[in-house]
Amino acid sequence: MSMSENLDAAKLKVRDLRLSFGDKEVLKGISMDIPEKEIVALIGPSGCGKSTLLRAINRMHDLVPIARVSGEIFLDGKNIYDKELDVVDIRRRIGMVFQKPNPFPKSIAENVAYGLKIAGGTSGKNLQDVIKTSLEGAALWDEVKDSLDKSGLALSGGQQQRLCIARAIAVKPEIILMDEPTSALDPISANKVEKLMLELKKDYTIIVVTHNMQQAQRVADRTAFMYLGEVIEYRPTRELFESPIHDLTKNYISGDFG
Ligand SMILES: Nc1ncnc2c1ncn2[C@@H]1O[C@H](COP(=O)(O)OP(=O)(O)OP(=O)(O)O)[C@@H](O)[C@H]1O
Ligand SMILES: [Mg+2]
Repeated sequence: MSMSENLDAAKLKVRDLRLSFGDKEVLKGISMDIPEKEIVALIGPSGCGKSTLLRAINRMHDLVPIARVSGEIFLDGKNIYDKELDVVDIRRRIGMVFQKPNPFPKSIAENVAYGLKIAGGTSGKNLQDVIKTSLEGAALWDEVKDSLDKSGLALSGGQQQRLCIARAIAVKPEIILMDEPTSALDPISANKVEKLMLELKKDYTIIVVTHNMQQAQRVADRTAFMYLGEVIEYRPTRELFESPIHDLTKNYISGDFG
């Protein structure tokens, strides 16, 4: 399948998304298509709006009184900001993994089962199965299978991040948003999470924010360079890094500014 055919079938379409905090406009009309089962990296200098964009895709600003959003984000053709859509359902379909691993002060098993319990339903044997497959999916099962009752907080940072990924995939989302998922990890753990992302891509669509240019090139099919609330350049990763069109992109990826 060619890249453009892929885009026609975009899983997520962002259209003229604007977001302000008070009178400060932080996203200034973002439009981009995220193809299904690809990894898209968001890069750009600190404060350019990467996390804000990621959070907007999960409707996390609903609870921020000063946040104003306009534009559309279509998930399978339906605008997630449409009043008729249930935000709980949207967050089940679009999961999020944060920079700092944030397991709950509960057992490993309970951490993974958490979203399922909220979503209601699963119990007993079925629950045990989901816990196992989610931990397997997050490449953590072998390390924790004999200590599922142990606190999630007792794991190492890298294990905690994979636990959070297991928790995110347990509810079978369609999209996983990751905000600098490896920046708090040592290189070995970071490498495990990167490998895991490539594995997860078979089943999920992933949007990842990263400050690590090598990481973007290793994992992402496409990369978007953001600057001051705009997407300056969004192209297949190799093209963006090998022949950036805009000087801003060129300067950023060559490390000419922070
Ligand atoms: N809840 C909020 N209230 C007010 N301003 C906010 C809020 N969240 C983010 N901002 C502002 O929005 C701008 C973009 O922030 P954002 O966190 O999206 O940047 P970023 O690209 O993720 O940066 P970094 O690489 O440092 O994580 C910043 O100026 C920030 O101060
Ligand atoms: Mg950020």
